[in-house]
Amino acid sequence: MIKQSIITIATLGLLSVTASAFDTASCVGCHGADFEKSAMGKSKVVTDMTAEEITTALNGYKDGSYGGPMKMLMKAPATAMSDDDIKAFADKYGKK
Ligand code: HEC
Repeated sequence: MIKQSIITIATLGLLSVTASAFDTASCVGCHGADFEKSAMGKSKVVTDMTAEEITTALNGYKDGSYGGPMKMLMKAPATAMSDDDIKAFADKYGKK
């Protein structure tokens, strides 16, 4: 019963995330308008990372397998991104 509710909530969360287009507006306060800053003096500069590194980082924040001392700050923002959002984001901001 409890397990079923958790799955329902997770599914609903996923649907609402899919429905809303991803927007970097919520990120720029910490990372800079063009992701050119080190967020809170702790993160890497995202535009210095390759698309692959960005993908690994965001997926890792979701499942807890990546991150430094402030990784808990990135859990919610990363979880709000779908796989497609992450790919598009990494392609756009990754170092060419
Ligand atoms: C509350 C401030 C804050 C917000 C909002 C935020 N970030 Fe971050 N971000 C950080 C910090 C701090 C780190 C470094 C965390 C760590 O691993 O210790 C980080 C790390 C990252 C990294 C990996 C950089 C590295 O050091 O490896 C990426 C990519 C990233 N953020 C993207 C985003 C995106 C995309 C959003 C918006 C959806 C976002 N962030 C929103 C503070 C923030």
